[in-house]
Amino acid sequence: MAIQWFPGHMHLTKKAIEERIREIDVVIEMLDARLPGSSANPLLAGLTVAKPALKVLNKQDLADPARTALWLDHYNGLPGTRAIGLDASMSTPAKALIDACRALAPTRGSMVKPMRVLICGIPNVGKSTLINTLTGKRATKTGDEAGITKIEQRIVLADGFYLWDTPGMLWPRIIVARSGYNLAASGAIGRNAFEEEEVALELLGYLIANYPGLAAARYQVVLTPGIGDEQLLEAIGRRRGAVLARGRVNLQKAAEIVIYEFRAGTLGRITLETPEEFARWLAEGEKIDAERQLKKDTIENARPGRAKKRAG
Ligand code: G4P
Repeated sequence: MAIQWFPGHMHLTKKAIEERIREIDVVIEMLDARLPGSSANPLLAGLTVAKPALKVLNKQDLADPARTALWLDHYNGLPGTRAIGLDASMSTPAKALIDACRALAPTRGSMVKPMRVLICGIPNVGKSTLINTLTGKRATKTGDEAGITKIEQRIVLADGFYLWDTPGMLWPRIIVARSGYNLAASGAIGRNAFEEEEVALELLGYLIANYPGLAAARYQVVLTPGIGDEQLLEAIGRRRGAVLARGRVNLQKAAEIVIYEFRAGTLGRITLETPEEFARWLAEGEKIDAERQLKKDTIENARPGRAKKRAG
């Protein structure tokens, strides 16, 4: 797996969540509607066990609406979980959030028993944009309040309804190989942490299989049966004039074009995973990870020092 990143704020954010979680009634996790499974932070589940969860599928304007519906059904079918779709064009997202949180914690939300909500999400998922829309003039920064970690921001969404913000957090190790590619394609991972060409090829492979019409229309190329990701990337490079000396295609440039156009939505409304696919990838990833761990343990246990220690 070529994609590696520095988890940034992870430790600080983890600590902030751990400090606050006992007093929280609902945890909102913002997900990227184009990759809901891959943009869900596996660390969060461990930190927020048994708390009612609201999954916000953000940037739904960029996602395939039919697949967003599948993901919403999937999450709404889980215990203690609700899901809504959102995007930056909504001028008043507060109502949707408040209604969903009230449904999850019906006894909270009064002045006596305020609704206390924590909002989390990976970088670039659109959290700052949402918070800016939500705050308007009602924003209250309480970073200096005793006992509250400075990285948090408390927002008063309505009377008796408080929202605590946390910084965007990624986790250090990817178990699902495809998630790394999907996160990179979405813009969640810094560009120094991955090879654009590799990510673009994965993206194009998925488009050939799932959205061939969009790729053909955008790049004016004929997707002949059996066309591969490399052939398509080359054809796109030629179409867009990304050509080097002696007619070689500048694959790096072509890859940047594909990634940029996916992010901007000019390629069309695309979702890179369905709930079923993601469940399959996760099962495969967990199996590979368990095998890797077993191998590591076997090597570790076979080391002479270990054997002596055990014998002693
Ligand atoms: P973050 O705090 O979670 O890191 O994300 P932020 O709000 O900064 O949003 C990241 C990018 O996503 C921004 O693009 C923002 O405008 C865009 N964005 C946020 N919400 C939506 C949405 O619902 N739909 C669409 N289409 N875009 C959304 P940017 O300003 O171009 O920044 P950058 O990605 O070029 O740095």
